[in-house]
Amino acid sequence: MATFGQIIFYSLVTLIVIFAAIIIMVLVLAFTSKTYTSTGSVMSSNTKPITNISEDVLLSCNLHAVLQDKFSDMSVTWQKDQNRVVYRFQKGAPELSDQASEFKGRARMSPDDIISGNASLLLRSVRSSDAGEYTCSIQSSYGSGKVTVYLRTAAYSTPTFTFSDGSLTAEASRWFPKPTVKWQNETGSFLGGNMTFSTSSSGLFTAVSTLQPVSAEYLYTCTVQNELVAAVSEVMITGSVVNQRNYFSFSVASPLLSSLCLNMMTTLLSIYCVA
Ligand SMILES: *[C@@H]1O[C@H](CO)[C@@H](O)[C@H](O)[C@H]1NC(C)=O
Ligand SMILES: *[C@@H]1O[C@H](CO)[C@@H](O)[C@H](O)[C@H]1NC(C)=O
Ligand SMILES: *[C@@H]1O[C@H](CO)[C@@H](O)[C@H](O)[C@H]1NC(C)=O
Ligand SMILES: *[C@@H]1O[C@H](CO)[C@@H](O)[C@H](O)[C@H]1NC(C)=O
Repeated sequence: MATFGQIIFYSLVTLIVIFAAIIIMVLVLAFTSKTYTSTGSVMSSNTKPITNISEDVLLSCNLHAVLQDKFSDMSVTWQKDQNRVVYRFQKGAPELSDQASEFKGRARMSPDDIISGNASLLLRSVRSSDAGEYTCSIQSSYGSGKVTVYLRTAAYSTPTFTFSDGSLTAEASRWFPKPTVKWQNETGSFLGGNMTFSTSSSGLFTAVSTLQPVSAEYLYTCTVQNELVAAVSEVMITGSVVNQRNYFSFSVASPLLSSLCLNMMTTLLSIYCVA
């Protein structure tokens, strides 16, 4: 006869196993069917690029074949969301009669690159509406296949810092989606800042955050971040001069997937804590 405690224990173990199985399934599905939908020997060196709106992006797609470095009969079609033709290259020339209007004059491929198996597409002045799923399909007598590239669009810039009257102000302009601003001291503790947002006519955000009081010769870290990009700045005030060092980091997993995993982890943890 199992005691009450044992029943609870085994139920919890069962629940944890089920959750773990679900997480593994989600990860496997996400990585096999979505991220690397590459068949044949067509590959992309970056299946999840993130682009600063208004800049250009190279959507990578390459055909690899053993002992072959010229593909004279290669044809390539780039499609967006499975129904809009972005660019088509056939019989040695561009074939743009059914190109979707939003890509006219903005998409480019080079015939020299194509012949050497490089079917990468250059998309100029990226707009937020360009975000989506792009499929590169290649046909040639040496091999064929397709690969899907997920383009994500964001707007981001390095924040600027000003120091006056003992307070340090960060201004992060042209951000999208809406960012958060966090301050940390040398030991990594979060410090309270005072934040205001404004929105431009094109829907981009400017965040201004003020930290007070601040000390000279002390290293502060300011992180401006949305679900795609983080701009990390290390800031130190020397006299009246603000010295800053910046770097960007980009999200690798899709926001949906990471929040899903996070939620499941939280659920798992709370089961443990109840136990
Ligand atoms: C493919 O061509 C583009 C230019 O069209 C170039 O920037 C890129 O480096 C090339 N990729 C490879 C793998 O050769
Ligand atoms: C993103 O583009 C804007 C303007 O087009 C530019 O001001 C900004 O510096 C760019 N961001 C980065 C990190 O290059
Ligand atoms: C960082 O901030 C925390 C919390 O305000 C504080 O306890 C800690 O001493 C600070 N660290 C330094 C090096 O100032
Ligand atoms: C926060 O903002 C308000 C309104 O702009 C201002 O009066 C206040 O002094 C600010 N506080 C700090 C700590 O900067």
